Amino acid sequence: MQQTVRSPAFLGGNLAVPGDKSISHRALILNAVAQGDALVTGLSAGDDVLTTMRCLQALGADIELGRDLGREPGVARVRGADQGLQEPADILDAGNSGTSMRLLSGLLAAQPFTSVLTGDSSLRSRPMGRVVQPLKQMGAQIMGRGGDQLAPLTIRGGSLRGIEHTMPVASAQVKSSIMLAGLSADGDTVLHQPALSRDHTERMVAAMGASVETDGLTLVLHPARLKAADIAIPGDISSAAFWLVVGLCHPSARIVVRGVGLNPSRTGIIEALRAMGAGASLSLTEERTVGGEPVADLVVESGQLTGIEIGGDIVPRIIDELPVLAVAACFASGTTVIRDAGDLRLKESDRIETTVGELSRLGARIEARQDGMVIQGSGRLTGTACQSHGDHRLAMALAVAGTLAGGRTTVHGADAATVSYPDFWQHLAQLCGNGQLD
Ligand code: S3P
Repeated sequence: MQQTVRSPAFLGGNLAVPGDKSISHRALILNAVAQGDALVTGLSAGDDVLTTMRCLQALGADIELGRDLGREPGVARVRGADQGLQEPADILDAGNSGTSMRLLSGLLAAQPFTSVLTGDSSLRSRPMGRVVQPLKQMGAQIMGRGGDQLAPLTIRGGSLRGIEHTMPVASAQVKSSIMLAGLSADGDTVLHQPALSRDHTERMVAAMGASVETDGLTLVLHPARLKAADIAIPGDISSAAFWLVVGLCHPSARIVVRGVGLNPSRTGIIEALRAMGAGASLSLTEERTVGGEPVADLVVESGQLTGIEIGGDIVPRIIDELPVLAVAACFASGTTVIRDAGDLRLKESDRIETTVGELSRLGARIEARQDGMVIQGSGRLTGTACQSHGDHRLAMALAVAGTLAGGRTTVHGADAATVSYPDFWQHLAQLCGNGQLD
């Protein structure tokens, strides 16, 4: 599927983005193995979360979606199996979702049966050794292609021991995978992180009765049987990021994004846009707490941005937003340098190569570095045909670029957006006052 966009004279509206993808995965997985029933509201209906749900159902979890419950979509009832999952009758397909594969690997490492996890060609090329190695050290038997580095993964779980592990990368998927296994281990699990990554798992297991102690970048998890918890999921800041950038960079825009989760381990994009000079053009209103997470409505208006240097500890807190930040950098004055972001090469696509390659087609002055990109802001892009490479965040970043560019931009592979944001193209049409999308 392809979509064509062009810049409208005015861009405006008020919308709610889908429920946070990271929190949605965790709300289903953790409640599926808890004691008792839980109601999850605000669940993302993106493909990745539905993938996790189907894998859990194949493992015997009892999950009903809102439509079956006669409620609005975004509501799920999870009846906890209290660790008693069943051996799946078939291979589990994690599709395009790294979070599904890595978190389910940790869950399955503690289950006394054999399961096989696979995914699409993108996921089968992404590194799994980062979870396989520590899970094996805990006592799980795991085999994968390429010396146990790549999916499909065959997992024979069972009794696990707690480990002390120094994580080479600041990855919330790796941390969460080990924590899921650690909940059933005999003894504590100690993780040393190189930098803070999103902490939704820590927050959720604590809300479900587990004890997690954090001391700086070290985390200690005690084994625990979880108690089901109702969870209200806030809007996904990673989806809101597209509207923040398009609003700030368009010359005549005002967009309100309602109910966005502002967990401090996720707000790197707001910090970066403020450092670029977003100032009063980006404000938070109606600040509140939803399901234990800080939430606000974001109001964004046309602004003037200046290039920045970004690297170090902020990177894990902005990692998924870097492709759209590169679009913002094209419309900023001066140079933006993104460094320490080599993990971008290991996402749904090699996001350094794909972002640089596709934005170059639109006339961006952008260069790849091994661990990031350098962008010279020029204040303009020129519409043309470009390609998502099957990567949802690239499809949406290119849509933003096309909405700011002169002329028409056609995004091929536009349907990739459904991985995290099924209504993305409708929302863009709404903001453009319709008629701007073919
Ligand atoms: C996620 C963690 C991040 C992020 C991904 C979602 C999560 O990946 O890029 O989109 O839900 O834990 P890494 O942990 O591999 O950095």
